[in-house]
Amino acid sequence: MNEPNALAWDAPSLADAYRGRFRVGAAVNTWNLDPASEACAAILRQFDILTLENESKPMYVQPEEGHFVFDKLDRFAAFGEAHGIDLRGHTLVWHGQVPMWFFEGEGGAPASKDRLLDRMRTHISTVVSRYRGKIATWDVLNEVLRDEGGLRESQWYKIAGRDYIPEAFLAAHEADPDARLLINDYNLESSEAKADTMISLVEELRGEGIPLGGVGLQMHLSLFTDLDLLRKNVHKIADLRKIDPALRLEATELDISCYRFGDTAEDIDWTPEIEADFRAKYTEIFRVLCALADEGALDTVVFWGLSDAVSWLNGFPRRHRNYPLLIGRGWRVKPAFYDVLALAGNKEA
Ligand code: XIL
Repeated sequence: MNEPNALAWDAPSLADAYRGRFRVGAAVNTWNLDPASEACAAILRQFDILTLENESKPMYVQPEEGHFVFDKLDRFAAFGEAHGIDLRGHTLVWHGQVPMWFFEGEGGAPASKDRLLDRMRTHISTVVSRYRGKIATWDVLNEVLRDEGGLRESQWYKIAGRDYIPEAFLAAHEADPDARLLINDYNLESSEAKADTMISLVEELRGEGIPLGGVGLQMHLSLFTDLDLLRKNVHKIADLRKIDPALRLEATELDISCYRFGDTAEDIDWTPEIEADFRAKYTEIFRVLCALADEGALDTVVFWGLSDAVSWLNGFPRRHRNYPLLIGRGWRVKPAFYDVLALAGNKEA
């Protein structure tokens, strides 16, 4: 607690500190890109890769069939270009934040498989081709697995079966052959069954010649995350590079909640004990990320949000005050920020 807690735009830059090892980024919203804003100052200082938190999801990009809305994504793309910041596209196919028309057929019946796959391909090719060369990485598929292992029984799956998975990658690859195409999911760190399903799915897809570029580990963690299990699972996933050394992992949505998932306790007080635990957890996680980077498996780490003040975890899975990021309320970086910064210089980490 004794370190000076600078404002995010005055503090040393995490992106600079980790350059050459991995890119460091955050999920943002386009209103954060206003050059006069504090958010923008924090972004330009701290990060060299960005994801849109919500505005590139299908419900915003194609709210009605054939009606594409690109103003936010255009703004994002222009910002990346103007500042030399890499951009991630999130996301093309997900069961969440997707308009229901995708799944609807005539007269209230569900869409046929062909119709759904056509709509999916049109969405993917329209969006990906527009940002070809500008958005270099896409979370093509988001959260298609079940926590207990196996494929999630989403509307996508119920109508199209497993086929929507390879078809999504094929459509994205056709629209931008140079883009890195990821399959992104949560709890890969904490569910062995889910990690195993991911590994066999990627093996199968590569075996079928599907142009998949790697796996996104969302890394929505908590102070209760089992680190031994996390290490085991992420290294197992990183071993996929034995079948294809070009595959990459990205940490796509990193945050560390101080609540156990589903915890109904009242808001916690930020005690010195919790702070110590938080610092230790972030340090360990960055050690794991550095180890993955140093073996060539991972090159990107993105935080889910700019600061504690705006983190989605203040409202999910229930409303409570949370503290999951390295930049706190009031834009002050935390002691854990300096721990993570110091680790960057330590190749032995
Ligand atoms: C979340 C956003 O942060 C929230 O603002 C929104 O209300 C719901 O979605 N996994 C994902 C992200 O892949 O898209 C989610 O983002 C968080 C969980």
